[in-house]
Amino acid sequence: MIKLYNILRCDAAEPWQVSFQDPATPMMQGIIDLHHDIFFFLVIILFFVVWMLARILWHFHWKKNPFPERIVHGTTIEIVWTVFPSIILMFIAIPSFALLYSMDEVVDPAITIKAIGHQWYWSYEYSDYNTSDEQALAFDSYMVLEDDLDIGQLRLLEVDNRIVVPANTHLRMIITSADVLHSWAVPSLGVKCDAIPGRLNQASLFIQREGVYYGQCSELCGTNHGFMPIVIEAVSNDDYVTWLNEKLSA
Ligand code: CUA
Repeated sequence: MIKLYNILRCDAAEPWQVSFQDPATPMMQGIIDLHHDIFFFLVIILFFVVWMLARILWHFHWKKNPFPERIVHGTTIEIVWTVFPSIILMFIAIPSFALLYSMDEVVDPAITIKAIGHQWYWSYEYSDYNTSDEQALAFDSYMVLEDDLDIGQLRLLEVDNRIVVPANTHLRMIITSADVLHSWAVPSLGVKCDAIPGRLNQASLFIQREGVYYGQCSELCGTNHGFMPIVIEAVSNDDYVTWLNEKLSA
């Protein structure tokens, strides 16, 4: 079903897309800000180097400058070209580390969801809740095949069982695998976390707006690597409780 936020926001890959999908978490916003921050320096350096190259080619052409100088030292310029790049590197490193460490931070999560990679689908466990037979709420999430798609559903991205979570809530994702390496990645949420057999990886999520977010397995895991997408639906608290009750009583 097409909802308004699917049209307004870019929460899934689009044809001929350039640049990022729209951020839905503070993490993705941070990643985009850092990208712009670094790009600023990149553009300055690019123009400076091109300008310098052009000048050199112009002024030191063999016709203009047939007898080369034999200078091998220049203390001032050597200090300048050492100190100046170090300062630029610092301006890149400080926001980069700030972001890196804030991504590792776990803010007392309200819900823990375990994502398990399989060849070739994802399964999810909501370990905070038990069904009537004392089993953790768990389900598999398979890609919807092209022939089974409804109008408005995204080819190679839609799944039969979406993960549903409340928006504006601190979530903890535990990511692992049952067979080979997979990677749980959702661009709008700024998450790309390896799923490793025998190991639990952790990612924090705080989704700031309701919507449907699409991602894909991002580690080559075999022939159907391209056919194990991820769909996560952020809803209001009420809708989440309703969904949860349905799942638990089913
Ligand atoms: Cu699972 Cu690629």
